[in-house]
Amino acid sequence: METFEAITERHGVLRFRPDPVEPEKIEQVLRAAVAAPSAANTQPWEFVVVTDPQLTKRVAHYLMEAQMTYVLNGMLELPEEFTDKLMSLYTEFDNAPCFIVFCLNQRVDLASARWAQILRDWDMCAIGGAIANLMAMATDLGLGTRYFGGFVADNDAAPLKEMLGIPAHVEIVAATPLGYHDEPPKERPEQSLDVLVNYRRGDKYSLAGLLKGKLPFSTVTHFDRYDDKTPIREG
Ligand SMILES: Cc1cc2nc3c(=O)[nH]c(=O)nc-3n(C[C@H](O)[C@H](O)[C@H](O)COP(=O)(O)O)c2cc1C
Repeated sequence: METFEAITERHGVLRFRPDPVEPEKIEQVLRAAVAAPSAANTQPWEFVVVTDPQLTKRVAHYLMEAQMTYVLNGMLELPEEFTDKLMSLYTEFDNAPCFIVFCLNQRVDLASARWAQILRDWDMCAIGGAIANLMAMATDLGLGTRYFGGFVADNDAAPLKEMLGIPAHVEIVAATPLGYHDEPPKERPEQSLDVLVNYRRGDKYSLAGLLKGKLPFSTVTHFDRYDDKTPIREG
């Protein structure tokens, strides 16, 4: 598969076949992750790969519950009729034969508080790059992934840390299932400005508006000079 296809065909997968992922493919996605750039080469990432079938079920159920409580009810504040409908998308998710949990291990200590803060932000960026590499590699190998991050609102994912024996100084950032799936690449048309405007909240968009599709490419790209092309306008 071409690099562009591997990147653009990635989409969040929620239905997996139970077939195990070959260990060499798991290693390959992890090697793609650690190839990401990191500030001053800190390589702040660590990965917990879960394949024990009892543990994968527990991780899946934890992520589902957290999705309901912290993401759909908490962050998105959706009414019950929507949360029930959305949660029905997650019913085959516990089939996934593998989960990868992305962790931040800040091994470097800086004397300056300001620089320590900047380094933490950089380390988070680096982990984002590692996750993106891993997901593109997985797509290339015919494997599906789905980025989960909202569960960290649950006391920094303390229950998952406990489940996997992750020590206190190592922070959980995100998790993904990894496995084979039958889902065709998702159509992701650019969002019409009208949809965004309808979901306007003050001078920003609401999350519900953004969830519907991709921002227009021309809105997020600038050439030579920043040009304020924001589609927010008086409704
Ligand atoms: C930092 C981050 C956190 C995310 N957290 C969640 C989450 O908690 N639950 C979820 O269902 N999706 C989560 N997602 C997935 C996004 O909702 C998804 O990537 C986005 O809607 C675009 O869809 P796509 O991945 O199919 O392209 C997260 C993505 C990112 C980058």
